Amino acid sequence: MAALKGRNLLSLADLTADEMQHLLTTAAKIKSGEINPQCPQKILGLVFKKASTRTRVSFTAAMYKLGGQVIDLNANLTQIGRGEPTADTARVLDRYLDVLAIRTFAQTEVEEFAHHADIPILNALTDLEHPCQILADLQTVQEEFDQLAGLTMTYLGDGNNVAHSLILGCALVGMNVRVATPAGYEPDEAIVKKAKSIAGDRSEVMVTPDPKAAIEGAHALYTDVWASMGQEDLAETRIPVFEPYQINESALAIADKSAIVLHCLPAHRGEEITEGVMEGKQSRIWNEAENRMHAQQALLAAVLGAA
Ligand code: CP
Ligand code: NVA
Repeated sequence: MAALKGRNLLSLADLTADEMQHLLTTAAKIKSGEINPQCPQKILGLVFKKASTRTRVSFTAAMYKLGGQVIDLNANLTQIGRGEPTADTARVLDRYLDVLAIRTFAQTEVEEFAHHADIPILNALTDLEHPCQILADLQTVQEEFDQLAGLTMTYLGDGNNVAHSLILGCALVGMNVRVATPAGYEPDEAIVKKAKSIAGDRSEVMVTPDPKAAIEGAHALYTDVWASMGQEDLAETRIPVFEPYQINESALAIADKSAIVLHCLPAHRGEEITEGVMEGKQSRIWNEAENRMHAQQALLAAVLGAA
């Protein structure tokens, strides 16, 4: 799709519904082997200021499958770790690389990179959003149900970065999205408002403290850790607050019979999800993790003008 060439992905709200559908279709075709876009001699840079297994490795594998190269710009081995201004780093990396994926804390930092660089900047997770994760999640739902519009996605737990991108992504594809969080841990109001305006009258965006109301009849149950990277010191005190929001066997029993279970990983078994549900027959968590690679291969190919 020509419209995606050269574009950033900082928030899922950067995409139109058609662009999102194009990425999901491309990812599915790449996975099935129907297409094999190539970006020879293109170079992807990775700036990761937080730990990562899936995102780092799936981006790297995806770029290799496209015939490109990857440079891992470990912050501690570059001047990034010594505090060189983002504006300077961005303008220099722009001259060497063709695309840059960044995992950091502040959303404003990826925005600043995008402002100072002409190459596509991809958000590989910030405190506000995790758009690449949700591409893979929606691909996983699509391959299970062969549709997205009209289905219901329920997210239980912390109104965090993953929840934010999920709310926006579901609104874009016409899925109903229900988010159940304890009071005080709701998703960002501006994101919910944006999702409602994207969804219009096609689908519902619900935020509730009531997990049962959110789960009843849902086609996908989704959760994430109760304390994200950077919040480790809050983890213990959050456990009793979040306990009613665990995805366990009784939660799954009130979802639709066909419901699947998703988790972006890494998971804390016994906290946000039980071992039994994670390893149970309704879990699609491992396919979801695999789809990170296909979805990002589609994204890289699109922003590099090859798909
Ligand atoms: N889900 C996800 O982004 O995992 P990593 O933190 O391992 O990249
Ligand atoms: N919300 C989690 C997601 C990890 C992939 C975090 O930010 O740590």
